[in-house]
Amino acid sequence: MSPSWNPVQIKREEFERADEPMGTKEKFWVKLPDDDRLWLFKLARERDGVVRGEDWAEWIVHHLAILLGVPSAAVRPALWKGRRGIVSRSMLRSRSEELVHGNSVLFGHDSGYDQQAKRENPNYTPATVRDALRGVLGPDSDAVPAALSGYDVWTGYLVLDAWTAGRDRHHENWALIRTGGERRLAPSFDHGNALGFAENDERRTVLLADGGKLEHWLDKGKSHYFAGRPSLVELAVQALMLASPVASEHWIERLKAVAEQDVQAVIDAVPSEVMSEASRRFAIRLLEANRRRVLHGYQVVQSG
Ligand SMILES: Nc1ncnc2c1ncn2[C@@H]1O[C@H](COP(=O)(O)OP(=O)(O)OP(=O)(O)O)[C@@H](O)[C@H]1O
Ligand SMILES: [Mg+2]
Repeated sequence: MSPSWNPVQIKREEFERADEPMGTKEKFWVKLPDDDRLWLFKLARERDGVVRGEDWAEWIVHHLAILLGVPSAAVRPALWKGRRGIVSRSMLRSRSEELVHGNSVLFGHDSGYDQQAKRENPNYTPATVRDALRGVLGPDSDAVPAALSGYDVWTGYLVLDAWTAGRDRHHENWALIRTGGERRLAPSFDHGNALGFAENDERRTVLLADGGKLEHWLDKGKSHYFAGRPSLVELAVQALMLASPVASEHWIERLKAVAEQDVQAVIDAVPSEVMSEASRRFAIRLLEANRRRVLHGYQVVQSG
């Protein structure tokens, strides 16, 4: 079934906690009618009086994650005092569950790990994440085969990032959920920095008109956080090579199997007053090109 864009109106009385300490954007937790979990409202940022597309990017990537079979925190578009944003449904199902961010997980594995690093971190690599996730189960979700380990599923998050040009997978943008002695990878979250949301329409139009320029733009899609600042495609391929063969095969097959009309239906669901025509065309081209780039990168490494 195609998703529909159905914004939540946030009212004053729904404020629950104004104090999400993590992350950088303006946000607060709210209680919505008919749901027992809290939702995190995040405002889409503005530049020069124009709302950038973090809201549509986060919503679209959530639905693309579903198409790829990547567990992802549920999001809905939201309006607060007429300002655009999204709400993300708490991934924690009860008070006995606790979110442990990637930087704490990496520090727990290696006490020399710099948890405060804000940019490139020499110890932040797929290999260190794999080692730190040893013994961590995959998310409790029907979306992924039960045989996949926490690390196996984490590699799917990097495939999602490479496909959607998601550049924000720093060590506080993934986590595990601890419940008593059990540790499971949390669903993927915080997907607003993707799909070229920060570009303006003029630039998108230039890139759409010139395949070479678009390729160059895509090649510049690097992670600022992982050691060596690899491209998002290199990073995903590197991560897949360290996953179990079942897992790498699983993600590659899932990526191949995504139907173009399903992607189109997700993008078509966003209203035109929220997402411009150039942004839509750009998102579609970017997704087609990145899918090819990931599949090609994987094939080259496999056959080399
Ligand atoms: N669905 C969710 N369930 C539980 N906790 C969440 C959820 N979404 C976000 N959080 C918590 O809130 C923090 C901030 O959220 P998020 O990462 O989405 O915001 P951000 O400000 O965009 O972050 P960044 O600085 O990475 O761009 C997360 O690090 C996480 O601890
Ligand atoms: Mg974040």
